[in-house]
Amino acid sequence: MTASQASIDQDHVTLLMDKVESSADAMAKAVKRTLLSPRFYTTDYAAMDRLNVEPVRAEWDAMMKEYEGDNNHDHFQRDAEFAEEVRTLMPQLSPEMRQEFLDFLISSLTSEFSGCVLYNEIRKNVSNPDIKQLMTYLTRDESRHAGFINQSLRDFDLGIDLGNLKRTKKVTFFKPKYIYYATYLSEKIGYARYISIFRQLEKHPEKRFHPIFRWFERWCNDEFRHGESFALIMRANPQLLRGANKLWIRFFLLAVYATMYVRDHTRPMLHEAMGLESSEYDYEVFRITTAITRQVFPLALDTDNPKFRRGLERLFAISQAMEKAKARGGVIGKLQQGVCAVKAAATFARLYFMPVIEQDLSPQVRMEPAW
Ligand SMILES: [Fe+2]
Ligand SMILES: [Fe+2]
Repeated sequence: MTASQASIDQDHVTLLMDKVESSADAMAKAVKRTLLSPRFYTTDYAAMDRLNVEPVRAEWDAMMKEYEGDNNHDHFQRDAEFAEEVRTLMPQLSPEMRQEFLDFLISSLTSEFSGCVLYNEIRKNVSNPDIKQLMTYLTRDESRHAGFINQSLRDFDLGIDLGNLKRTKKVTFFKPKYIYYATYLSEKIGYARYISIFRQLEKHPEKRFHPIFRWFERWCNDEFRHGESFALIMRANPQLLRGANKLWIRFFLLAVYATMYVRDHTRPMLHEAMGLESSEYDYEVFRITTAITRQVFPLALDTDNPKFRRGLERLFAISQAMEKAKARGGVIGKLQQGVCAVKAAATFARLYFMPVIEQDLSPQVRMEPAW
């Protein structure tokens, strides 16, 4: 089964199972814990308190000045045009497209808010002035991002009570180094995703079906800078980038890329509406992210290798089969789910052991968001 065939099958299943029609449905979707949905994290705060950024002090201080300057302080406010566009454009969405867009808003809100909660907890639990200051800025930015998306959900009467989400969603413990690898990647991939959409809609404004996309350029510069912070933390502590830790970097690269690929392919209409094709869009995002990771990771995944691409297609097909097995239920459904899990693990392992591309780290850590 090709990826696009599988996505046609999927739509009906997800639409049946996970339709968002009320605020409670939106909340349930945000709270739900699946392999693909954004999670909430906690970590070892005492270990983070001991972080030392002295080896990158000059670059660190320059970055802090940028945060302090807060060039996006006035950005996350809706103008009159925004409301007007919502009023005229939203009734034109087909019911299927509306569901994909809502899924996009809810998962984006959950991951922005996940960052907000984690950074805020770190801020409260450390006394190290560098880390505390950084976390204060990161929390400020992510809370703006989450609040801005939530306003768009409210236009549909589907606003999420973030306090309630924080109280009810399960939290996963991650060692600090896993937080650095995963958060760095998700910030940079967030940048690459938003800038690719923004550039596409800049070329094709007629395809901009919601005003929120006009906000993406300045928004993604926040994400880019957040990623820079974790790059500096890792470069200041180079043991995180050597030896057995390279295996962890490889693991997180693959986990983040594969999750994004599978998730994006479950909402093909959303990309199509913007004139993008999910696979092409994803490989462009991987290309940008890989170019950026030269600042910190000594290796990159060979995402242009046809074998790698076939592996991702296979993961997507397996995830579709898994959804069908869940919908089927009963003993057979459970057995089928088990088979899918084994197949997914084997495919992930094959992708993990593919040769990677070694890369030399750039002498200077900081980079410009030049895409
Ligand atoms: Fe954000
Ligand atoms: Fe961020």
